Amino acid sequence: MRKIKKIISKKNKTKIVSLTAYSKNVASILDNYCDIILVGDSLGSVLYNYKSTREVTLNTMIEHSKSVRMGIKKSLMIVDMPHNTYRTPKDALKNAKQIMKKTKCDGVKLEGGKKIYETIKTLVKNKIPVMGHLGLLPQSDKTFKFKGKKNLERVHIIRDSQLLEKAGVFSIVLECVETSLAKLITQNITVPTIGIGASKYCDGQILVFDDLIGLNPINYKFVKKYANIRNYISKSVSNYSKEVRKIKFPNKKNSF
Ligand code: KIV
Repeated sequence: MRKIKKIISKKNKTKIVSLTAYSKNVASILDNYCDIILVGDSLGSVLYNYKSTREVTLNTMIEHSKSVRMGIKKSLMIVDMPHNTYRTPKDALKNAKQIMKKTKCDGVKLEGGKKIYETIKTLVKNKIPVMGHLGLLPQSDKTFKFKGKKNLERVHIIRDSQLLEKAGVFSIVLECVETSLAKLITQNITVPTIGIGASKYCDGQILVFDDLIGLNPINYKFVKKYANIRNYISKSVSNYSKEVRKIKFPNKKNSF
């Protein structure tokens, strides 16, 4: 709870830095720079090439989270609850308890607003910290277009942000939300908003790590590639393959 309070206390003071990780080695690097590390169910498309995150299972999330846990010393570790694991408050509680126990994470993230209000209340009542997720919801969205263009959509997202706050979430991810709407929500709730494609006005930012380093060849508008790691890997593997073929590797130093 101390870590959760620390995140909340950053609102209106300092931006919250967050990234996804799916394994120990990556998590151990991100831990030096991030406030929150999310084991996102985006791993379904990033690692497993699933058509949607709906195919990700509870077991897959738990196994990757166990790996990530080993790499984190200080950041807050949050795990996505996969699709169909929080259909009822009872299901959600059983599955969230399992995630918390097996992965030793600090909290879980669920997608949605009004529909999962009672579920979030149940988790929070049982001392499970919850991060909300509004805007584009990959587990249920059909169009994958940014949200907040239409007035009714804006009204629903604002209502949902207030409901999530009331249910007791410690922060809310805003995914692909129009700038003025993200700003309005951020200014009107007491818990931090963490944006992805939701403007600079959010209290913090999150990106999928593979996108940030340019490992994912796809370009999304809301991503800035801070490296082109594909080139770097390509060069390294090309050099290795040349040296193996020319019998330059392994040399004496690499041999027993
Ligand atoms: O699954 C994920 O990686 C996420 C982030 C993009 C917020 O939910």
